[in-house]
Amino acid sequence: MKFELTVNGVRQSSEAPADISLLHFLRDNLRMTGTKEGCNVGECGACSVLLDGKLVNSCLVLAAQANGREVITIEGIHAPDGGPNDLQQAFIEYGAVQCGYCTPGMVLAGEALLNSNPKPTRLEIREAIAGNLCRCTGYQQIVDAIEAAAIHRQEAGHD
Ligand code: FES
Ligand code: FES
Repeated sequence: MKFELTVNGVRQSSEAPADISLLHFLRDNLRMTGTKEGCNVGECGACSVLLDGKLVNSCLVLAAQANGREVITIEGIHAPDGGPNDLQQAFIEYGAVQCGYCTPGMVLAGEALLNSNPKPTRLEIREAIAGNLCRCTGYQQIVDAIEAAAIHRQEAGHD
């Protein structure tokens, strides 16, 4: 089956089995390996991407469901100069990246939250990342990083 979807603003088309997941389509067909495969059953959030702006577990979404739609992966999250954006920089500064396996999904979860709720409480941040498992950080640093990015965006007038 031929798939056509927009990934990080670029129209992509590729042939793949009709039942391929969006996760495997991204990784295997488009060679975009920033999206991680963890549990493959919707429990860890490592595979998180934005589908038409909404956070989804790409292991649970068929590429066919994303056909004709817009996907944002971690490769599409960066500063204008291609370096880390403010949220990614906050992850680095607050020690929210350790093994890094969960990090792409955490960043996408953070972006989804800040897009819909620019001034989240810490509880709201915890709820927003509840579907994303991290074995390393204990979550405190991740919550700190997302909170810092929220404050930075408010101060920068991005809200
Ligand atoms: S790999 Fe998709 S939720 Fe774990
Ligand atoms: S930094 Fe290792 S799983 Fe989160």
